[in-house]
Amino acid sequence: MTSSSLLVMVIFGATGDLMHRKLMPALYHLIRDGAVSRDIYIVGVGRREITTDQFREMMAAAVRESLGSEFDLTLWSHIIEHMHYSKGKFEDAALYSDLTKLLEGFDTEIQACVPRFFYLATPPQHYETILNHLHKSKLSEGCGQGTSLYTRVLIEKPFGKDLTTAQHLDQLLGTIFEERQIYRIDHYLGKETVQNLLSFRFANGIFEPTWNRKFIDHVQITLAEDIGVGTRGEFYDGVGTLRDVVQNHMLEMLATTAMDQPRAFDAESIRDQRVKVTRAINCIEPKDVGRYVVRGQYEGYTKEKNVDSHSTTETFVALRLTLDTPRWRDVPFYLRAGKHLSKKTTEISIHYKKPAVCIGDVCLFPEPDVMRNVLAIRIDPKEGIILRLMAKKPGFGMKLTPVQMNFAYKDSFTKEPQPMAYERLLLDAIGGDQTLFSRTDEIDASWSFATKILEGWKTHAKKAPLITYTKGTWGPSESNELMKKDGRHWYLEDDA
Ligand code: BG6
Repeated sequence: MTSSSLLVMVIFGATGDLMHRKLMPALYHLIRDGAVSRDIYIVGVGRREITTDQFREMMAAAVRESLGSEFDLTLWSHIIEHMHYSKGKFEDAALYSDLTKLLEGFDTEIQACVPRFFYLATPPQHYETILNHLHKSKLSEGCGQGTSLYTRVLIEKPFGKDLTTAQHLDQLLGTIFEERQIYRIDHYLGKETVQNLLSFRFANGIFEPTWNRKFIDHVQITLAEDIGVGTRGEFYDGVGTLRDVVQNHMLEMLATTAMDQPRAFDAESIRDQRVKVTRAINCIEPKDVGRYVVRGQYEGYTKEKNVDSHSTTETFVALRLTLDTPRWRDVPFYLRAGKHLSKKTTEISIHYKKPAVCIGDVCLFPEPDVMRNVLAIRIDPKEGIILRLMAKKPGFGMKLTPVQMNFAYKDSFTKEPQPMAYERLLLDAIGGDQTLFSRTDEIDASWSFATKILEGWKTHAKKAPLITYTKGTWGPSESNELMKKDGRHWYLEDDA
């Protein structure tokens, strides 16, 4: 199937935040650019009591809000001709018989079978119900297996609540769909800057030879947000930072940073390497969680809308882990993520070892302490890569100072559009390319790691307490202590 063939995208949870902020603007872009047919059928499914016209209005507002002046009314009038809303409860069989009639109507309209894409963008507790109903109603069978028109299912993270529930969900999916029909979404894999990590590492001969324990002292990954849970209190309170972004986005970034070179740049080879390195993460045992993991909650979180007033859900996590591979043995990886922190930034930084310029007390340069190369990979915002080098300060004497070599997307690619992560992922799912989607064994490996931490928080709560932090800071001071006890500190390129 080509990416511009006709299809129907059925989105469960279509009145939610994700549809507004990401999915509808991404679909609009793809249609505008001709990557997806202007005649695509879009069906929103939700519990809200609204009409199809109201849904169309809602979607128009979402696109306008996101794209402003790019909004083209003529194009939009065409798109909404094939846009529908089906209201109902996800557990109600009638919803699925209505959907069946609607989708069969599309087939009749064009006198052919329209391939079906089911996108689960609801809170995760509804996944099982929806999947079971898709199965029972035979909606999942669509145009039939074994053809290029087979049905596909796209599932948002978090995929499960822990290892057991993730495996259970996977089993259910496996009874309904084949692996090639399942697209587990982690939008970080769709980010241009995360994809570029692979080309940066493997297409430039100068980095790979030093990308290992011999040259690298440690690695840091920060995913910080300056906003709180906003209108997503109900979703977030049942999830928390570990499940929301660490088990998925952060471990995918870690895997892309730490994996070995794939044999080929195809979906299976890349996913094989990602899973190999994720499996090699040394689990932090529940009894050690207090030592290697810090969890925090921002002040006022329990007063947020739809959040339990006694909630112990974490909004901040910092942790230290290591990998059991010849390349990375004993190299610490420090991860931190949270809401209501000082600023919005996602950055991976590779901290090289200091060069051997001292023999005992005798040093070649007077300031050996500052001499550390850092490679900062800015995922978002200010996308780019910065290499921090040491240079001689102009003038008499040998004074050293850190300087930057800077690659910024905005300077190097002024004409090329940067597709949104969701555009890329939707297009790949439509085209049947699974490279940027998590495979079942990857999910298993990341949950094995995250589940031990969740267990530790339960069974060793005293040793791993939830610490309140002030909004607009970098989280609990214990996060700095985690670094300090290893003689290191958190790093962000802007603040260096
Ligand atoms: C989502 C999380 O997956 O990622 C959100 O559910 C978070 O809580 C978001 O805000 C961050 O994504 P980005 O692309 O804005 O860094």
